[in-house]
Amino acid sequence: MSVVVLGSANLDLVYDVDRIPAPGETVLSRSFESFPGGKGLNQAIAAARSGAEVHFLVALGKDAAGDRLAAEARDAGIDLRDRRVDAPTGTAVIYVDRDGENSIVVNSGANATLVDLTEAEVAAIAAANLLVLQMETPPTTVRAAARVAKANGTTVILNAAPSGSVPAALLGEVDILIVNEHEAADLAGQTADAPDQSLSALTTHGCAVIVTLGAAGSLVGAPGQPTAKIPAITVTPIDTTGAGDAFVGAFAAALDNSGRATNPDLRTLIGATEFATTAAGIAVQRKGAVPSIPTLEEVRLHSAQS
Ligand code: RIB
Ligand code: NA
Repeated sequence: MSVVVLGSANLDLVYDVDRIPAPGETVLSRSFESFPGGKGLNQAIAAARSGAEVHFLVALGKDAAGDRLAAEARDAGIDLRDRRVDAPTGTAVIYVDRDGENSIVVNSGANATLVDLTEAEVAAIAAANLLVLQMETPPTTVRAAARVAKANGTTVILNAAPSGSVPAALLGEVDILIVNEHEAADLAGQTADAPDQSLSALTTHGCAVIVTLGAAGSLVGAPGQPTAKIPAITVTPIDTTGAGDAFVGAFAAALDNSGRATNPDLRTLIGATEFATTAAGIAVQRKGAVPSIPTLEEVRLHSAQS
C-alpha cells in the first residue's frame, strides 16, 4: 500500500494583518514568517504524518527554498522524487487576518516546469494504491498522471484547487473529487449556497465527491447514493492556511489504511472523511501550512477525547 502525491511545493511568505488590504491600500503587517507550503507538499506531509507510505513527485528550484522544502519532505519520512530545475522554487504570498482567514497569491516557478512524466514517475504512479493530485501543477500533467493511474488500477483523488484550470475531461478520469463549496460551485456551474446540488451535479462525472464546508463540516456523495453530512469539530481558527490540504492528505492516508482504496463504498469514504475532518480541525488552530498538519497520534488523541 502506498500513496503517490504529484504536485506543488512553495515557500509560503506569511504576513499577519489586521485585515486584508483593499485595492490601492497599504497596511502594516503585525508579523512576518516563512513556512514550507504548496498544496502538493502539504498533502504529501499530511498523508505521511497520518501514517501512509508517501512518494512525492515535485519540481523544485536549485535554490535555498528548494533545499528547505526538500529537507522538510524528507524529515516527514517522504520518499522525495524531486526534479531540480532551472527555475525558482514556487512561492506564495499569504495574508492572514485576525479571523484566521487568508488570501494567497502563488508564483508557480519550478512547479510550472513539471511536464512530460518521466519513466520513473510513471512507474511510481502505476505501483501505488492511490494517486493524489491538485491544480497547482500544469493541467496537462495532472491529466497525464490521472490516465497512468487509471490504466494501472491506481485510485485517483483530485483536489481541484484552484478550480479555474480543471480540464473538462479530467473529472471523468477521477475516482474521488475533493473540493470546497466555492470550487464545487465553480466546477458544477452553480452557486455556492447550494453545495448539495453542486455535489449531485459533480457525481454525474462518475466519481465520488466530497465537498468541504469549513466550520459547517462536509458532504460525502457518490453516484446513485444518498449524500451524507459530516459535522466539523468545534474550534477557534487561528490560521486556515493548509487546512484543506491537511484534510486531503489525511483522507488519502485513512483510505489507504482502510485496505479499501479500490472502489471504496460510501461507508469507507465517510470513515476517511471523519478522520480527515479531525485532522483539518487541528490544523486551523495552528499557524502556517506544513507546521499546522497533525500526526496520526494527535488525530487519534483528539478523537478519543471527543
Ligand atoms: O493550500 C494552501 C497552500 O496554497 C499554501 O501552502 C500555498 O503555498 C498555496 O499553494
Ligand atoms: Na493552519
